[in-house]
Amino acid sequence: MRALSGKLVSGVVFICVVSCYGQNPFTPGQYDTDWIDFSPKPDGIPLHSTVYFPKPSGLYSPILFIGGMYGWASSGYYSILLTELASRGYIVVGFDRYYPGQLDQLTSPVRAVGRQNESPSIELFFNTTQWIKNHLSDQIVAQADWTKTSLLCHSAGCDDTLVMVNVSRTIAQASVFLDPMSLDAMVLQTLNSKVKILASMSQLSEEKPMCCIPGTDYRKIYDLMNCTKVRMQVKDFGHCDIMDDLLWDVCHSANVCRTTNNTRLENYRTFAAGVIHGFLQWAIYGKTDMQKYVTNQAYMPLPLVDLAFDLNC
Ligand SMILES: *[C@@H]1O[C@H](CO)[C@@H](O)[C@H](O)[C@H]1NC(C)=O
Ligand SMILES: *[C@@H]1O[C@H](CO)[C@@H](O)[C@H](O)[C@H]1NC(C)=O
Ligand SMILES: *[C@@H]1O[C@H](CO)[C@@H](O)[C@H](O)[C@H]1NC(C)=O
Ligand SMILES: *[C@@H]1O[C@H](CO)[C@@H](O)[C@H](O)[C@H]1NC(C)=O
Repeated sequence: MRALSGKLVSGVVFICVVSCYGQNPFTPGQYDTDWIDFSPKPDGIPLHSTVYFPKPSGLYSPILFIGGMYGWASSGYYSILLTELASRGYIVVGFDRYYPGQLDQLTSPVRAVGRQNESPSIELFFNTTQWIKNHLSDQIVAQADWTKTSLLCHSAGCDDTLVMVNVSRTIAQASVFLDPMSLDAMVLQTLNSKVKILASMSQLSEEKPMCCIPGTDYRKIYDLMNCTKVRMQVKDFGHCDIMDDLLWDVCHSANVCRTTNNTRLENYRTFAAGVIHGFLQWAIYGKTDMQKYVTNQAYMPLPLVDLAFDLNC
């Protein structure tokens, strides 16, 4: 576990009553943040996990995150996005399934379609969540409100998220799929689940070299859900643009996936954090004035090439 700097210095408690209500979700978050990580040894957590959280005490909504390549891409490769979310008032728990997920360990963990039940990973995620529920408050003053939990995933990490939604229809109130790629999505029937979903894809993800595959992507996930749902496709960004510079550079220079040039990455990560925040405030806290930031292009700072939603639940 990393030592926390200034853990005992409680931050200034920001009184957010009227002023935050209706605030544009794309503006920078208001909280100072920090992070902490836990390892099987010595902490006893089932899976290595990294938690990004607001420093001030308060009750925040937890987000359970799984990164790309079936979780090979540890949450540390997404620290810019996850920190932006924490600064908006979330406790983000990144499950680092193959920690540290170094580049030389990357062997493509492709799985057989629909054989998820043979993998212990879902139970590992549930057990790890339980460990966090039991131990997080020993370490940080920010408190998680587990009745307001959501899931977040990128790319093939979304395979596991979708199975989590399928096996436990109560694990979360909402789920956000970023550039999802899910082989399980091909075999699943419509889910009778009340989980509200946002499925977003960067437009260049399905241009050569293809990093998302039509039929397993954000449209498919949208089609599978039977509740409040939104889908969008963001113009002129690519599959790796959401990641921190280290992995973005590899992706860009080796031409693994199409990317933008590096002049607009900040805009994209801020856009993603804002749209996720707007969606969760609406989906989990019922702030209907946030809906327009997620369903109306006129309120969004980046252009979309696809936007659809269904609010009948
Ligand atoms: C999850 O926890 C339960 C109860 O402690 C245990 O029986 C099970 O083996 C654990 N599963 C995994 C995959 O670690
Ligand atoms: C989804 O859940 C159903 C019912 O519990 C189960 O039969 C099915 O195998 C699951 N599908 C996947 C891909 O996990
Ligand atoms: C979808 O929701 C509707 C309305 O709640 C319900 O009648 C229907 O059975 C659901 N379909 C599936 C496949 O869950
Ligand atoms: C980066 O991309 C933007 C938008 O496509 C473009 O206007 C700009 O000229 C590009 N900059 C470089 C250095 O290629």
